[in-house]
Amino acid sequence: MALTTNTILICAGGGCISAGEESVKQAFERKLKEFGLDTVVKVVETGCMGACSLGPLAVIYPDGVYYQKLTPKAAEKIVEEHILKGRVVPEFLFEGEKEKLTIKEKPRGAEEIPFFARQVKIALRNVGVIDPMSIEEYIARDGYFALHKALTQMTPEEVIKEIKDSGLRGRGGAGFPTGLKWELARQQQSDIKYMICNADEGDPGAFMDRSILEGDPHSIVEAMTIAGYAIGAKQGFVYVRAEYPLAIERLQKAIEDAHAYGFLGENIFGTDFSFDIEIRIGAGAFVCGEETALMHSIEGKRGQPRVKPPFPVQRGLWGKPTVINNVETLALVPPIILRGASWFRQFGTEKSPGTKVFALAGKIKNTGLVEVPMGITLRELLYEIGGGHPQGKQIKAVQTGGPSGGVIPAEYFDTPVDYESLGKLGAIMGSGGMIVLDEDDCMVDVAKFFLEFTVDESCGKCTPCREGTKVMYDILDKITKGEGTMEDIEKLEKLALVIKDSSLCGLGQTAPNPVLSTLKYYRHEYEAHVRDGVCPAKRCKAFISYVINPEKCVGCTACARVCPTNAIRGEVRKVHEIEQDACVRCGSCIEVCRFGAISKVTPAVSSAVAR
Ligand SMILES: Cc1cc2nc3c(=O)[nH]c(=O)nc-3n(C[C@H](O)[C@H](O)[C@H](O)COP(=O)(O)O)c2cc1C
Ligand code: SF4
Ligand code: SF4
Ligand code: FES
Repeated sequence: MALTTNTILICAGGGCISAGEESVKQAFERKLKEFGLDTVVKVVETGCMGACSLGPLAVIYPDGVYYQKLTPKAAEKIVEEHILKGRVVPEFLFEGEKEKLTIKEKPRGAEEIPFFARQVKIALRNVGVIDPMSIEEYIARDGYFALHKALTQMTPEEVIKEIKDSGLRGRGGAGFPTGLKWELARQQQSDIKYMICNADEGDPGAFMDRSILEGDPHSIVEAMTIAGYAIGAKQGFVYVRAEYPLAIERLQKAIEDAHAYGFLGENIFGTDFSFDIEIRIGAGAFVCGEETALMHSIEGKRGQPRVKPPFPVQRGLWGKPTVINNVETLALVPPIILRGASWFRQFGTEKSPGTKVFALAGKIKNTGLVEVPMGITLRELLYEIGGGHPQGKQIKAVQTGGPSGGVIPAEYFDTPVDYESLGKLGAIMGSGGMIVLDEDDCMVDVAKFFLEFTVDESCGKCTPCREGTKVMYDILDKITKGEGTMEDIEKLEKLALVIKDSSLCGLGQTAPNPVLSTLKYYRHEYEAHVRDGVCPAKRCKAFISYVINPEKCVGCTACARVCPTNAIRGEVRKVHEIEQDACVRCGSCIEVCRFGAISKVTPAVSSAVAR
């Protein structure tokens, strides 16, 4: 067998694939072959490495050097320089290293790069590190050791106790104690029980569960089997949305390989415990992530929620006791079993132990996936790991928890990230989506965006959610169009509370949260729209105008050439003017003016005064 001198890990997560990972991988392979290095240098595709905005990413081992924004040409150069001659290629080094690096210096390892240094990867321990299609690589990283330990050295009750002692709480949104859920299911008298992994992941912008399934599918197979043993289930289902074909493919392969190794199926590890897993593909409705709707969908019925109780642990799938756990929750299970509850508790806080994966998006430099210990402050998360605003502007707020969550203004950024603290602020941890907002984001518009989502996704079963969210959306729409009244703001608030109290399921109960939290912290923005005719963020088109400053305009005509409605008049080298009635406020002109002569103003102005 040939000795491997280097391994090139290349990220094959969704973000890097769409940034051209495939052609970069081919370039690596081509060049290695050209130099006869293909037998000693391994190219391995991994799951998401986290820094998705800088993809395609690759790491060269054993040096541990990260490269970013790769192109086929860059890959060729890395083979010629780094692999062949041992010289780092500075221009493609992971962001943050470049400034300090001279050609002779060694680049910093991941533990010194701020983006990675503050992270603690437990759920993501293998994501971006191993080939997700290789069971051997999973085993080499202690994979299936926890399952072996559970089945051969622990009783189901001991497994449950370990999970209870760890304080693990569900990462799917609500934070329910996982060990308690398993215990309640265990206590049910039934010959048949089920274990379900919820991989529906419907929050806009969230992709942590997808990344775990794509990057480390065996961790879910292992965890579900442990859970099955603990609660007394023989059958598991993974409910995953059809929009995740790569996750489905890799999970399917993991299930087949686990079977071949005897880690799934009859008499696992020669014990009398047998367990199997099937994949069920959902059509991508947000409400199907709600556990009762999800079970209806698996049963082949319409994916609509039902009243609880009975809870799934009492009457679940086909009426049998069922545990439903989120992907990330499950990914944390094997390390807890292997290393113990007190090891897990060294991370996080007393009431929220462990780590949480977040998907950072919006106005933040390092967009992507991060796993941090609970209790870290929002400021540390956003600035030290996220790198702050990409253009160095002030971050105004962060929206956590997607359509069920709320906004947290910058003055609360010293709040620790844990279930209780976020809840106290009127936001939620949710599944881990974090959208960073700056001064250009209008809070009424943010609330409207999420309400539009919930209106579309309401299953329509109960009136407060079906009709109420639509009425709320219409009011928000009126306000952003300059037709709102002060009574509308009050109506919005009252309606929000009624919908929260009277909806059947979590979708309707939490749908008003983005409105309530923006009203709580940014009521003045709502009032500015209604009372002053102003959108403080200059976002809502009804309240803004683009105007040309005659002092600065040199008459270059660039703006007139890009205007889609020919709203800009003016002769060459003469001051130009925007015809406000014809302007559709697309903002194309402001982008092209190299003289800073165009500005966006609120309130809107009429043509007569628009110069
Ligand atoms: C509308 C709605 C959508 C949900 N979507 C998801 C989802 O996509 N993934 C998920 O794990 N949990 C989702 N949940 C929460 C689940 O109902 C359930 O609480 C969770 O899967 C339990 O797992 P955990 O205890 O491990 O968090 C959703 C809840 C609601 C009300
Ligand atoms: S609250 Fe909304 S999503 Fe939930 S059952 Fe009622 S209509 Fe359906
Ligand atoms: S692009 Fe700027 S400088 Fe050029 S004509 Fe338009 S406003 Fe004037
Ligand atoms: S997809 Fe490559 S870093 Fe996230």
